[in-house]
Amino acid sequence: MLCSSNYSSPQFVNWFNQSWFTTGDHPAKLAPFKGYIAPPLDGIWATAPYLHNGSVPDLESLLNSRLRPKYWSRDFKNPQYNLDTPGWKYGEEYSATNKETYNTTLKGYSNAGHYFGDNLTNDERKAVIEYLKTL
Ligand code: HEM
Repeated sequence: MLCSSNYSSPQFVNWFNQSWFTTGDHPAKLAPFKGYIAPPLDGIWATAPYLHNGSVPDLESLLNSRLRPKYWSRDFKNPQYNLDTPGWKYGEEYSATNKETYNTTLKGYSNAGHYFGDNLTNDERKAVIEYLKTL
């Protein structure tokens, strides 16, 4: 069984080192060691919503926590991806109106933390996002 929280497990290491992550212009190789190994950000532009619980709809709000919606929803029938921000096109709401609304006030659904992008200027944040789009 793959254990997503342990990037040292032989099953995961073997899978990773034979996967598409090891091909292309920037081939990656997973060399395990004891301790936390951050997951790769390859293809991160396409894998919204973000954080472990999918609480943040796009990279712009991941890197600017002031923009993170408390309640948000997206269209599951006609999903729309925003390539600029990049992430899901979402509607901000003011309460958990229905079961498709992501409610960050619920236990385990929080969007708090990872405030590292907050102190960037808008231009710096834009540049980081453009870089992330190339991964
Ligand atoms: C400008 C700098 C940074 C950028 C662009 C960045 C980018 C990202 C992105 C895009 C994710 C979401 C991954 C996903 O949802 O699949 C993420 C998650 C994460 N980052 Fe960063 N990061 C930055 C700085 C940092 C720093 C300084 C640390 C540690 C000190 C860190 C630790 C983490 C951790 C632990 C997660 C997983 C959090 C979770 O899933 O809840 N990041 N980062």
